[in-house]
Amino acid sequence: MQGAKMLIIYCFLFYTIRTATARDTLNLGQSIRDGETLVSANESFELGFFSPGKSKSRYLGIWYKKIGNGTVIWVANRDAPLSDRSGALNISSQGNGTLVLLNSTNGIVWSSNASRTRNPVAVLLESGNLVVKDGKDIDPDNFLWQSFDYPSHILIAGMKLGVNLVTGLNRFISSWKSTDDPAQDDYVYGIDPSGVPQAVFRKGSTIRYRAGSWNGLHWTGMPQLQPNPVYTFEYVSNENEVFYRFNLIKSSVPSMMVMNPLGDPQRLTWMEQTQKWAPFVPFSGLILDQCDNYALCGAYAVCNMNSNSAKCECLEGFVPKSPSEWDLLDKSDGCVRRTQLDCEHGDGFLKRESVKLPDTRFSLVDNKISLLECKELCSKNCSCTAYANADVRGGGSGCLLWFHDLIDMKELSESGQDLFVRMAASELDDIERKKPKKKKKVAIVITSVLLVTGVILLGGFVYLWKRRHRKQDVTRSKFLDWSKRCQIIGGIARGLLYLHQDSRLRIIHRDLKASNVLLDNEMNPKISDFGMARAFGIDQTEANTNRVVGTYGYMPPEYAIDGLFSVKSDVFSFGVLVLEIVCGKRNRGFYHADHHHNLLGHAWRLWIEERPVELINKSLGGSYSLSEVLRCIQVGLLCVQQRPEDRPNMSSVVLMLSGERSLPQPKQPGFFTERNPPESGSSSSKRSLLSTNEITISLIEGR
Ligand SMILES: *[C@@H]1O[C@H](CO)[C@@H](O)[C@H](O)[C@H]1NC(C)=O
Ligand SMILES: *[C@@H]1O[C@H](CO)[C@@H](O)[C@H](O)[C@H]1NC(C)=O
Ligand SMILES: *[C@@H]1O[C@H](CO)[C@@H](O)[C@H](O)[C@H]1NC(C)=O
Ligand SMILES: *[C@@H]1O[C@H](CO)[C@@H](O)[C@H](O)[C@H]1NC(C)=O
Ligand SMILES: *[C@@H]1O[C@H](CO)[C@@H](O)[C@H](O)[C@H]1NC(C)=O
Ligand SMILES: *[C@@H]1O[C@H](CO)[C@@H](O)[C@H](O)[C@H]1NC(C)=O
Ligand SMILES: *[C@@H]1O[C@H](CO)[C@@H](O)[C@H](O)[C@H]1NC(C)=O
Repeated sequence: MQGAKMLIIYCFLFYTIRTATARDTLNLGQSIRDGETLVSANESFELGFFSPGKSKSRYLGIWYKKIGNGTVIWVANRDAPLSDRSGALNISSQGNGTLVLLNSTNGIVWSSNASRTRNPVAVLLESGNLVVKDGKDIDPDNFLWQSFDYPSHILIAGMKLGVNLVTGLNRFISSWKSTDDPAQDDYVYGIDPSGVPQAVFRKGSTIRYRAGSWNGLHWTGMPQLQPNPVYTFEYVSNENEVFYRFNLIKSSVPSMMVMNPLGDPQRLTWMEQTQKWAPFVPFSGLILDQCDNYALCGAYAVCNMNSNSAKCECLEGFVPKSPSEWDLLDKSDGCVRRTQLDCEHGDGFLKRESVKLPDTRFSLVDNKISLLECKELCSKNCSCTAYANADVRGGGSGCLLWFHDLIDMKELSESGQDLFVRMAASELDDIERKKPKKKKKVAIVITSVLLVTGVILLGGFVYLWKRRHRKQDVTRSKFLDWSKRCQIIGGIARGLLYLHQDSRLRIIHRDLKASNVLLDNEMNPKISDFGMARAFGIDQTEANTNRVVGTYGYMPPEYAIDGLFSVKSDVFSFGVLVLEIVCGKRNRGFYHADHHHNLLGHAWRLWIEERPVELINKSLGGSYSLSEVLRCIQVGLLCVQQRPEDRPNMSSVVLMLSGERSLPQPKQPGFFTERNPPESGSSSSKRSLLSTNEITISLIEGR
């Protein structure tokens, strides 16, 4: 669980309790000064002044009193810190019942909205909600103002995520600038009420992820939101308001939704045994795979994660808009109709099963009509592009209509929905006519794929260093003379540079290794298997994961140990690959009689002993340029240095390899000695999956 460290430390914002006054109510004329607190009736929550992380500034906030070392859930003056400990919270004596936060010169640093009452009281409720009410009002739920309406970075049980359509009040959670600064940052998760309301995660104004519209059971794109032992949830949408809210099943097992400064929204649940907040699998994160990146495939295309990497596929009857680029990673151009619509002569609809329904920002919904009436409604309006059931419960009901391009669809093998896409009648006829022949066609495609693959395999579509019999590990090596190896190294470097810098999204591959580099019969390398790749914003440089995936031997220490990954993790894997190509040996499983180092250790040792020539694969004979080989070894060692910040980025690597840049002396590589490998299995997420499983099990068993 090392990977979750940052996230969890983020939640433990230490504060010092000073003279605590055990009361939950602030009356007119009273104030809370720095050092004094309000405590909710059963002491679950406390309100007072605190300093987050290393900051010296003071903030008025609410935190869990009994658990998590005071996990702060709400901050009043998040954008207006107090510079000293002279702040005070008053109920304004002006008579309107406004809460005001005053600084040393009685300047108003923050205030709640005017409450319009002569008898205001402020109460910190056991739910963690700070409310202002009329002290004479006998209705306990009639609040004039409440902190739950102004969430910070955390959604706790009972808070509404959503919009009051009458007042326009929008409640969303937003990231802090850093663990030391609660000021509102760019990452926001909330409900977008336009068209048909959807849960949306944004960075600034850019949508990063769309959970989608509510289908009666869950957000259409978030089937992992399921009844579970920790909390229940509800969704309400009417003419007055639209919101999502969850409630705890046992108040002794708190759970919350957190937006951390890295923009990785997570659900955390309190673990009594470990006294820690931990991701609650499998409902912990919003973004589960690459297909969750908003509109990755563009319009009229469905993203699917079969075979562990994102693949884009046009809807039936549609073709790639830019076929030449469709093979590359950037598919956001999407697809276009093969046959134009012809509304006057009648269009029809083609059913696409098992998808996350497309973006509904410009959609309409009618919850009362059936699917048949829905179809009729859509056929009658020439700009209607698709329809679907709005609610999937009880066999389906209600009607969702689209009037724009269909964007951001994902294949969901379970819990996906049926979407009916408008098609020209002639196109439908074509599709219908082809249907009986479909099987044959598929068979032909499969056969030809097999044939082509076979031919390519024969022609040298090889995994580079699968161990082979020597007489055979010799022929292969001869086959790969130095100029070919050089070409392969350069090709991989340019491929990675493209992923890191030149593609529309910054992509970290995370599992670059020999077996993920395919060679065509001209020995051009192709980086494959993007199953573990993560797309980054162009300005994002690193992230943290609690699922360490990848292959030991290629993983840098900061990733294998702390779950931190960045473009520099790929650079490390690249360095390992370069040394393997030069030496003709694998890093893992490398054995040298003299010592117990892996290949990196061995290479480093020969380098500092000024004997790097001994690294060079014997089968290269003498047919290589020594300076080129030595340059590759040096670049390889620079890429595998212990500290990520010492490693060059891929654009420098490309320049270094071409001899256009002088090379610094490498420092010691980050490597595991073979004596003490972290795990003996060859690859993958076993280690971290095990530990998350343990947490789930302990949670369920423990209670
Ligand atoms: C705030 O409360 C304190 C103590 O009750 C009082 O001295 C001060 O005048 C109040 N300030 C305002 C602006 O109401
Ligand atoms: C406080 O705890 C007591 C005993 O557990 C319980 O009966 C009561 O309802 C709680 N009050 C609130 C406001 O949660
Ligand atoms: C909570 O704080 C105490 C004392 O500062 C510390 O010993 C403990 O490790 C902390 N717990 C967590 C989960 O951080
Ligand atoms: C209180 O309400 C009155 C009338 O609505 C308004 O003029 C005044 O500015 C308010 N005072 C504060 C402190 O909000
Ligand atoms: C107190 O707040 C007022 C208004 O925000 C501001 O003008 C003043 O400089 C602040 N005083 C101090 C000591 O920070
Ligand atoms: C007060 O209400 C207005 C209008 O609803 C809103 O724009 C403003 O942000 C609110 N201010 C606070 C401090 O809640
Ligand atoms: C089709 O539906 C759109 C969206 O509701 C509406 O603006 C448009 O007027 C409709 N067109 C016709 C011909 O009904």
